[in-house]
Amino acid sequence: MERHQPPVSRTTVAAGYAALRTGAMGAVSAICGLLAARGERIAVEHPSYANILQLMREAGARLVPVPMAADHTGWDLPAWQRTLRAAAPQLAYVMADFHNPTGALADTGQRRELVTAARTAGTLLVVDETMVDLALDEPTATAMPSPVAAFDPAGSSVITLGSASKAVWAGMRLGWVRAAPDLIRRLAVARGSADLGSPVLEQLALTHLLRSGEWHQAVDVCRTRARSHRDALVTAVREQLPQWEFTVPHGGLTLWARTGGLSGSRIAEVGERLGVRVPSGPRFGVDGAFEGYVRLPFTVSGAQAVEAASRLAAASRLVAGGGTATTATPPGLVV
Ligand SMILES: Cc1ncc(COP(=O)(O)O)c(C=O)c1O
Repeated sequence: MERHQPPVSRTTVAAGYAALRTGAMGAVSAICGLLAARGERIAVEHPSYANILQLMREAGARLVPVPMAADHTGWDLPAWQRTLRAAAPQLAYVMADFHNPTGALADTGQRRELVTAARTAGTLLVVDETMVDLALDEPTATAMPSPVAAFDPAGSSVITLGSASKAVWAGMRLGWVRAAPDLIRRLAVARGSADLGSPVLEQLALTHLLRSGEWHQAVDVCRTRARSHRDALVTAVREQLPQWEFTVPHGGLTLWARTGGLSGSRIAEVGERLGVRVPSGPRFGVDGAFEGYVRLPFTVSGAQAVEAASRLAAASRLVAGGGTATTATPPGLVV
């Protein structure tokens, strides 16, 4: 399959049926509502995307964390096989394409084995492709592995979801689900008692982007901006927080940083008072894991990136010294 095909073309990869939802969050919510009754197990990468973990908790799911391998840059397939076999979760939620928060990208072998492990355990693999278009470097961009659904030709083990919100514009709240026809039908029926449909104006805008080919241009704008934000952030953090460790991702929108032994929760708390907002590591974990991490999004560049890193460095010094920020804060700066 060709890289950077818009979502409509990707529907041909597996079952060929799609349904629209309100962003990828809406898609996950609909899938959980339909397939994960309260108390049902859902296996997740550990770390995983904070808002989705929260959504699943609120839906009453029991989260089964599967640790990421190689310093959070890869998928530990033996751990996935063991966990799926032992816990037999109803669903497994994975972000194989520029995982949030680490930016990791699953290779072809990992994709194939994830599908095999899920099929063997009778688990439905929910693959979140929200970040798939955000490859920021070569050769990654031109050598992207096939979608996970390509390893499920029968279309019975993989549900894929995506969104226009990261590839085009955060305000375009259109997400989609691709799955077997029967599942798409059940999602459509369930929607009758939810919100009845997606806003038509946004659908028309998205249809225009896809039909005209301007989807590619819009994605390129986002990628160029994200690349420049990433590079500025990485340079500024390396300069001002040399004790922080991270792997620079080749795609996605986030940097997962180990905070040199300091509490990520405290840095987030003190940072907020100093006018820099970053989510702490434990938000991306189950049961308080990842206290020594923060996630830095690629949202500012130039002088703002330098200022953000400088405020984080100030927060880090205060936390290291056991202090806190008590003075009035400068205007909020969201990183
Ligand atoms: C992996 C992943 N899935 C889903 C979402 C939410 O997507 P949406 O804004 O389309 O609901 C995000 C947002 O950052 C994300 O990173």
